[in-house]
Parts: sequence; C-alpha cells; structure tokens
Amino acid sequence: MSELSRVFQNDINDFLASDAFAERELNLTFLDPPFNQAKDYASHNDDMPADEYWAWMKRVCSAVCAQTADGGAVYFMQREKNSEQVLACLRETGWTLQNLIIWKKLTSAVPMSRRFGKQYQIIAYATKGPRARVFHRLRIDPPLPANYRHKRENGLYVTDIWHDIRELTAGYFAGDEALRADDGMRFHKQQAPIALLLRIMLSSTVAGDVVFDPFAGTGTTLVVAQQLGRAGLGVEIDPDNAACIRERLRAIRPADAIARFRDDYRFTENLDEIWNGNIELGKQSVLNLPLFRPSLP
Ligand SMILES: C[S@@+](CC[C@H](N)C(=O)[O-])C[C@H]1O[C@@H](n2cnc3c(N)ncnc32)[C@H](O)[C@@H]1O
Repeated sequence: MSELSRVFQNDINDFLASDAFAERELNLTFLDPPFNQAKDYASHNDDMPADEYWAWMKRVCSAVCAQTADGGAVYFMQREKNSEQVLACLRETGWTLQNLIIWKKLTSAVPMSRRFGKQYQIIAYATKGPRARVFHRLRIDPPLPANYRHKRENGLYVTDIWHDIRELTAGYFAGDEALRADDGMRFHKQQAPIALLLRIMLSSTVAGDVVFDPFAGTGTTLVVAQQLGRAGLGVEIDPDNAACIRERLRAIRPADAIARFRDDYRFTENLDEIWNGNIELGKQSVLNLPLFRPSLP
C-alpha cells in the first residue's frame, strides 16, 4: 500500500509554529487531545490548571482553523462534562458548530453516587464558515429495536447520536483491534476505534483530502486515512507512540481493515465514490509537500 499517511514525532506546539504546517491546507481535523484528567502520559502533564489547558486548546483550534480550507471540518472529542468549554473554544476560534454528537460508546455506564451514571462522550462537529465543503449523508442499518415491528428496507440516515460504535475498553471487550504491549496490557488506553474515524472521514472528506490529527496517539486517524485514499498527517509527542503508528501504517493489521465495515454503509448513495481511495491525489498530498524537520531545542 502506498504511503498516504505520515506521522511527525513532535510537540504540537512546535509543529503548529513550523513552516511545514503553514504550507499545508487542511480539509478535516480530528481533535482528540489529552482530556486533562490526570491520566498517566509518558510525555505529557495531564493535570494542568484548567485555564492553562483551555488556553492551549484555543491556540490549537485557532491555528488549525487558519490552515483549514473554507468549509473544512473539525471534530473535537471531549468528556461531556466539558461540553461548555469545547463549544466556547470552537466559537471563539472561528469555527461554526454543526452538531454536538453524542457518542454512546456501547460500554457500561460509569456509576455516580450523586448524579446520573455517565454513558457518553461528546464530539463537537464544526466547520470553517457556515457551510460544509463536503458532507455525505451516510445511511446505516443498525439492528431493529425490539419495539419496531417492520424491518427497514434501506436503513437509516446517521444522526447526531452514534450508538453503534464500541469503545475499545479494557479487557476482553477491547478485542483484537486494541494494540497490546508484550505483557498483554493495552498499549494506549485512549486508542480510538477504527469505526469512529471511518464514520467521520466518510462524512466529511473526499479522496485526496488532507486529514490532520494533532494528537495522533496510536494513529487510528492515519490508519483509516491511508485506507480511504485521504492524506493523513499526524503529530505525536511520545516516541513510542510515534513508532507504533509507523508500524501500524507499514503493515495494516486485519483488525484495522476498514473493509469489514463497508456493509454497514451499503444503503448510502454514492458509497463507491465516497469510499474509493483510488482517485488521483491533488496538490495537497502529504507526499508532495516538503518534509518537516523538527526544530532542535
Ligand atoms: C487522547 S490521546 C489520542 C488517542 C488517539 N486518538 C488514538 O486513536 O490513539 C492524546 C495523545 O496526545 C499526545 N500528546 C500529548 N501532548 C502532546 C503534545 N504537546 N504534542 C503532541 N502530542 C501530544 C499523547 O501522547 C497522547 O498519545
């Protein structure tokens, strides 16, 4: 498979200030930053003062917006308790909110003693300008709810509640897709599912588009972009994660193959065209752009 996607092992703060970033026009960004909930990251302090954290997110959103083509999209994933800050962050950095997606992750609820148990995460979908440059109305065919009498003939449009994509949680349910270290533990606790990035990219890109992931983690975004003929561009600070991404891109594992989800979208109009990764890449291809050399301290 040709290399459409690439990762830069770098601090996003340095990357956003680089000429290499300034030369790229982005069509879609998936923003899945550390959530600032005191998780144990090897190369990042996940326990910043809240003001500092949100000022950082604003800098990222603002820089990404400046580099995004008119009508290009951002999908900003965060905890539901931070919805207010996410919406303000996008609004104040030039983005227009299109949907606040509820990702109901098919996992059991987090129990709470003095409020309702938590069962979803938010993904704010916003565009540069009021109108999306690309938006494909996908149709899926989830199992018929028990209270429905008739089978659907041609599926349903995807709405702003996504309840058919399972999070890669700990243990058995994470399945083959979860990357594991030699000791069998999950390599990265925040690895996003392939199905999630597939839906986002099918909805908001065409083949040849540039898809940016400023906090690439295990590289799920890049792995999906590579298979869909989109040019994935990822930044990840942790050298072990960056090495993992390179390996994941070098040889796509069966568990990372997007082909197994194609049937889920069979009722979507023009699916062949949306899915097709064989369209010749335009000037935006990452491969056609100069290599980025991280600045030394
Ligand atoms: C929530 S995880 C992303 C998970 C990713 N979506 C996936 O599917 O694997 C956030 C990632 O941001 C990285 N990170 C933290 N601070 C960073 C920085 N300043 N620059 C670049 N990456 C950073 C962390 O190492 C972590 O892998």
